[in-house]
Amino acid sequence: MKKQLYTLLSGAILSIGLSSVASQAIATTTVEVYKSPTCGCCEKWVDHMKAHGFTVITKDVGNKEIRKKVGMSETLGSCHTALVNGYVMEGHIPAPDIIRFLKEKPDALGLAVPDMPHGSPGMEGQRVDPYNVLKVNAPGQLRRDAEIYSRHNFPQARKETSSTPAATSDNESESGISIMRLKN
Ligand code: CU
Ligand code: CU
Repeated sequence: MKKQLYTLLSGAILSIGLSSVASQAIATTTVEVYKSPTCGCCEKWVDHMKAHGFTVITKDVGNKEIRKKVGMSETLGSCHTALVNGYVMEGHIPAPDIIRFLKEKPDALGLAVPDMPHGSPGMEGQRVDPYNVLKVNAPGQLRRDAEIYSRHNFPQARKETSSTPAATSDNESESGISIMRLKN
């Protein structure tokens, strides 16, 4: 178990108390992860999931085929695709979000963190960028139609003044967010 993975996880501080309880509840939950055998950040995300109590089975066959098969849009694509309790989990999603989602059992395809944001679980480093976890409601749903499930690494105080038009609505906006793009 690599404890430093989740101690570095910004935003996890609030959920540590909860997840220690929750991880017992999901201790027997198995996650099937489709990834490339050479992807280091995938492996680190797998460690992050194990550290939160998940049992992980890895399939080193890449994730493009499975992503297509389960209906996760390429617009939401990342480096790995995971299957858990009938849901699809795309990319570097923080385990506490997955634990909450599995408890809520929504009528949805799953969650996604498109691309590979710096500072997400498995992508720890010097740089920490804001990113959203998106809730994908149905197979084939595009990134622009997915709703924000949780937000990470955003500055706390970010109030819009009346003179500035709101640059961001409820929709996901990428302005000001720099992310590591996938090399497809
Ligand atoms: Cu990655
Ligand atoms: Cu990955």
